[in-house]
Amino acid sequence: MESANERVLAPPTKLRKKMKDAFARLGEPHGNSMIAIECMNTEELCGDETWWQIYKDSFPASQREPPDVILKSLRRGVGMAFRARLQGMTSGLATTHLLRDPAAVFIVYLAVARGERSRGIGGELLRSAWEAGAQRLRTQGLQPIGLIWEVDRPQFDSGEGDAPLRRIVFFERHGGELLKRPYLQPPLHGIVAVPMSLMFRPANGKGTPTPGIVEGLVRAIYLDKYEAINGIDRGILERLLKAS
Ligand SMILES: CC(C)(COP(=O)(O)OP(=O)(O)OC[C@H]1O[C@@H](n2cnc3c(N)ncnc32)[C@H](O)[C@@H]1OP(=O)(O)O)[C@@H](O)C(=O)NCCC(=O)NCCS
Repeated sequence: MESANERVLAPPTKLRKKMKDAFARLGEPHGNSMIAIECMNTEELCGDETWWQIYKDSFPASQREPPDVILKSLRRGVGMAFRARLQGMTSGLATTHLLRDPAAVFIVYLAVARGERSRGIGGELLRSAWEAGAQRLRTQGLQPIGLIWEVDRPQFDSGEGDAPLRRIVFFERHGGELLKRPYLQPPLHGIVAVPMSLMFRPANGKGTPTPGIVEGLVRAIYLDKYEAINGIDRGILERLLKAS
């Protein structure tokens, strides 16, 4: 069982001001608030009901993997799970899958409890998920080229109003860029793939990936994650690779 790897992060000035304002609004004490980002083992993940509540509340059923899939990826050592704790309460989550060829950190889920959004917690989760994932890949002798994740296409009406665009702005602020390659998210439930886009943030010193590298990343996402962990049929994935 891996041990909890806790990092306590002092909030940056802008965040401190936002949190101070928020706590002042709530009438709570303020001034010494800290966000802790923790890397979780399977036992901690199973026991954190708030984590699962945030997960359910942030993603529609069609986008949620069964809990067993997330736990399986942790047990196999290819997935990682994180929680943000604000004053001891779980207030956000992230999960990742570590791709090996090309080596990269794939963010699978990132979410902050509704009442805690726009206070910088999402940014801290993103940063910690990258640092911890890149570190684990390096201990396996791999050199991660960057961070990759799926987003709703901005022009695609997902029925969420301006949320998809706000998400892209959030990710661009954290150094991500939209990749031009069309991308279909394999069907998590049923048989219909979802048109999405990929965003990528290169590791320090690495540039924008070439089309060949992007192709390799998509293949790794499909086969290492969606086939090996989610159990999606190889034939469906091969067809999607050809279609996109
Ligand atoms: C996207 C998300 C993780 C950002 O977390 P956060 O703690 O609010 O992030 P930060 O405080 O570091 O940055 C705030 C920015 O996030 C974006 N954001 C905030 N709330 C948002 C929401 N409800 N929907 C979409 N984007 C949002 C905005 O760009 C916001 O900037 P603003 O405050 O200037 O408008 C969070 O909004 C969330 O959990 N959304 C729902 C789940 C989701 O869409 N996850 C991403 C896809 S896996």
